[in-house]
Amino acid sequence: MCGIVGAVAQNNIVPTLLEGLHRLEYRGYDSAGIALLNGGLNRLRTTGRVAELSKLVNERQFQSKIGIAHTRWATHGAPSERNTHPHFSGGGVSKVAVVHNGIIENHEALHQRLQDAGFEFVSDTDTEVIAHLIMLNLEKAPDLLEAVCRSVAELQGAYAIAVMEETHPDRIIVSRNGAPLLLGLGEDGNYAASDVSALLQVTKRMIYLEEGDVAELRRDGYRIVSCLGAGPCKEVERAVHESKLTNEAVEMGPYAHFMQKEIFEQPGAVANTLEMVLNAHSISPRLFGSEAENIFKQTKSILILACGTSYHAGLVARYWIESVAGLTCNVEIASEYRYRDPVSQSNALVVGISQSGETADTLAALSYAKSLGHRHSLAICNVAESALVRQADLRFLTRAGPEIGVASTKAFTTQLAALMLLTMTLSKLRGKLSDERELEMIAALRHLPVALQHALQVETQVKAWAERFSQKRHALFLGRGMHYPIAMEGALKLKEISYIHAEAYPAGELKHGPLALVDKDMPVVAIAPNDALLEKLKSNLQEVHARGGELYVFADADSRIQESEGLHIIRMAEHAGLLSPILHTVPLQLLAYHVALQKGTDIDKPRNLAKSVTVE
Ligand code: G6P
Repeated sequence: MCGIVGAVAQNNIVPTLLEGLHRLEYRGYDSAGIALLNGGLNRLRTTGRVAELSKLVNERQFQSKIGIAHTRWATHGAPSERNTHPHFSGGGVSKVAVVHNGIIENHEALHQRLQDAGFEFVSDTDTEVIAHLIMLNLEKAPDLLEAVCRSVAELQGAYAIAVMEETHPDRIIVSRNGAPLLLGLGEDGNYAASDVSALLQVTKRMIYLEEGDVAELRRDGYRIVSCLGAGPCKEVERAVHESKLTNEAVEMGPYAHFMQKEIFEQPGAVANTLEMVLNAHSISPRLFGSEAENIFKQTKSILILACGTSYHAGLVARYWIESVAGLTCNVEIASEYRYRDPVSQSNALVVGISQSGETADTLAALSYAKSLGHRHSLAICNVAESALVRQADLRFLTRAGPEIGVASTKAFTTQLAALMLLTMTLSKLRGKLSDERELEMIAALRHLPVALQHALQVETQVKAWAERFSQKRHALFLGRGMHYPIAMEGALKLKEISYIHAEAYPAGELKHGPLALVDKDMPVVAIAPNDALLEKLKSNLQEVHARGGELYVFADADSRIQESEGLHIIRMAEHAGLLSPILHTVPLQLLAYHVALQKGTDIDKPRNLAKSVTVE
């Protein structure tokens, strides 16, 4: 949600800021702005995309050696120019500029106080209070770092901010609390951004700021203070990390969209995620951390907390954990769980699943579970330095690489691979996995990247279906058992990027309501792997067929199901047993992608959405 980038360097930093914003656009893209210090503070802001902002900046030939920039996903205030960041305070002797990611929960109280103190508000955002607060604090503490420290001490909520001020033209102050922010240390200057991808163009040396950190960036140096807890802020050292990511990893290469690239990266992403076990003969709890064995042995049930696509991964895992490990597994939408009064079980392992590791609801749900007495937690996440990974006792990092397309694809299949490893580990520790079965399951995992490669080959057939779907306004997705969550994921993908209304149902539930919707205009997608539920599913499909519904069935090579009038079939190359949900995800991703392509929507940046949701 919202991307921040800041730079102070020897040369013109405007191209760096714009490229950085372009990289961060997945975080929000309803308006963008830039503030530069060149003589005084100047800014350009526009509704719409970073490309619009770049055009404006180039027309005006803006240049500077210091600046901050922002791409927005609106929370407070519509995506209009006056609500676009950077926000200013002052106009008299000095001016403060602020960009912000997150939500200031006490902004109403601060607004009132600052208004009473004579500040005039010109936007509907919560961010503007930060600019005025810093201006107010500058009267008491003329040093900008000190003024920001005093200001953040008064902020409640989650935020990452970057600040410039006219009388300190050589520095940028940044701070984070609950939203990501990192520093990039370059040869010719220093930088800050919401995410590594924005800074790989200038440096690989990164410092991940901790909660409550405030940092001052100058061209030739930086300092960091920690303002956590009571008492004055203290200067702190933070480790410098060499990022292993390459610039290519965040570039589109030969693909038309990041989503397409990420769909096709799945064999490699899953292979990377499974690397530690692919050449092994047995599975070790150490995959989840040094304390894992001890914690897993105390685990009596599993509680999975997640949002969106990650929640669907959790739903698949429930089938695996219950049937293979024999453990009760509850899966909860994080935003619901955090406001319920669930009965806690101290020996339930809480598993947070998140691609970004910064989804506010998932983080809050995990903290809530802890406050209710759950003793142990595990993070399954794609971002090593994320808040979720830091918050949990145990961790498993999926190795999908950066996922830029807003609709999650490779993050999902790598989460499923990780959850299968968790299932096997729990099962083994509970004495439910024989050596022979363990070897068989490792062999199946070893084959998974190749099987995914085969699954991608259905693309041409899916494209043909996509043409028909693009005319439709609604679609139903059906699945049974562990493929029901895959139907949910398929419906979500279609909604997200093609804006076709899609609903998923467990196929057995059809006759209890949704069958009423079925007619020739309602395509019904069914996932029909060759498993124990196939015959049951076929009866459900007959119910659709008999009512004139058009069926689009993803079956396995050997699923006993025949094409007929109104019943179209695409067959997957093989049946993958327990891993079948992973393979059956691929054609559904491709279907959504090609339908969206037909419809000409903005596939990587669907309207109203953002990739990482750092607000409630
Ligand atoms: C957003 C994204 C989804 C994602 C969800 C949860 O809504 O658009 O693709 O599944 O957040 O994100 P997480 O990073 O926690 O997996």
